[in-house]
Amino acid sequence: MRKGEKGILAVIAVFIVSFTVINMYRQSQDKSPDKGIPFYTTASRELQDSGAQLIRDLECRKCHTLWGIRDPMQSVPSPSLDGIGALYDEEWFYNYLSAADPQTIVPSRLKAEYQMPSYSTLPEIERRMLAEYLSHLKVEEWYLPEVRKTEYEKLTGKEYTDGDERADQQ
Ligand code: HEC
Repeated sequence: MRKGEKGILAVIAVFIVSFTVINMYRQSQDKSPDKGIPFYTTASRELQDSGAQLIRDLECRKCHTLWGIRDPMQSVPSPSLDGIGALYDEEWFYNYLSAADPQTIVPSRLKAEYQMPSYSTLPEIERRMLAEYLSHLKVEEWYLPEVRKTEYEKLTGKEYTDGDERADQQ
């Protein structure tokens, strides 16, 4: 190896080493926590299983995303069901699913074929189970602070304080 080549190699080596060191330093400074999947449920194991089974049987994912998953062959622009339990309670879901015309409760922007169908003919026990399952679907950090406050107080029965860690995250 000639002298000049050694010099070039040395420069490259120094470059790589400094790049690695700078990168390691930057990573160590990055304090943002790994957020992971923000969805969670407060349902019992049993309700999680039976609710998920009903959602599959009734093919809600033809139009809705749930646990981040939906039918890739359909593209109906309907709201995600993830975290929907932060917005409505069990009673609301039951009434919505039982309505002969759900659009009187949530107005639609879509053509009739894409709208939320009525599930009023579903056996009552299934409507109740679905309503309970949906009311337990939660999500962190999606909704406005006032929405989260309502959710927290509904869930825990305790007052939501600004000092709470979740309140600081936007
Ligand atoms: C044909 C498509 C379709 C199917 C199937 C469907 N939905 Fe919907 N759903 C919608 C649309 C679209 C909306 C928004 C309101 C509208 O346009 O009627 C909606 C609204 C909702 C809402 C209110 C959401 C909000 O943010 O206000 C809930 C809850 C819901 N659906 C649950 C379900 C469940 C549970 C199932 C299965 C049992 C289901 N949907 C099946 C299309 C569908």
